Amino acid sequence: MSAILPPTERLWYKHPIDRVEGTWIAIALTWCLIMFFMMIGWHIWGKQNLSTETYRTTPEQFTTKAQAVVDKWTVRTETDQNIPVVAPPPGSDVYLVARLWSFWPILELEKDKTYRLHLTSLDYNHGFSLQPVNINIQIVPGFEHVVTVTPNQSGTYSIVCNEYCGIGHHQMVGRLYVK
Ligand code: CUA
Repeated sequence: MSAILPPTERLWYKHPIDRVEGTWIAIALTWCLIMFFMMIGWHIWGKQNLSTETYRTTPEQFTTKAQAVVDKWTVRTETDQNIPVVAPPPGSDVYLVARLWSFWPILELEKDKTYRLHLTSLDYNHGFSLQPVNINIQIVPGFEHVVTVTPNQSGTYSIVCNEYCGIGHHQMVGRLYVK
């Protein structure tokens, strides 16, 4: 038989399986299953995947809630754009708005306290990349992502947009303080 001509017995699945072939199929299947259950295990024990809740929202709804928190808990403003620095009480809901090309407001959280961080975008897809700890999440317009966070190290963190969002993408950075 040559590779150019069609095989004489066309129904390949009616041929008996060679032992070597069967062994490889078994190895491949076992490995597939290991990899599949690793995904679940990694989520539970790997401490790398974020567990988020996601709800539908609109820019108006989200802005109203974010504005209320900003109005109540702003402690000072920073930068020449007077971005409010918001220090909400531990355990509360904190809001972060992403839009072309900024994050608003600046959050100031307390170390070892838990917060529910709500994220949305008012326009296009943005990214929330928390540096230097390298936590990543996409911020999708129309959706409210809620991440339960307990910062365990004090310091100044940068929030970097890591989804390309236009001409000002490289300038889209925010700040987060942990005291
Ligand atoms: Cu926002 Cu890139």
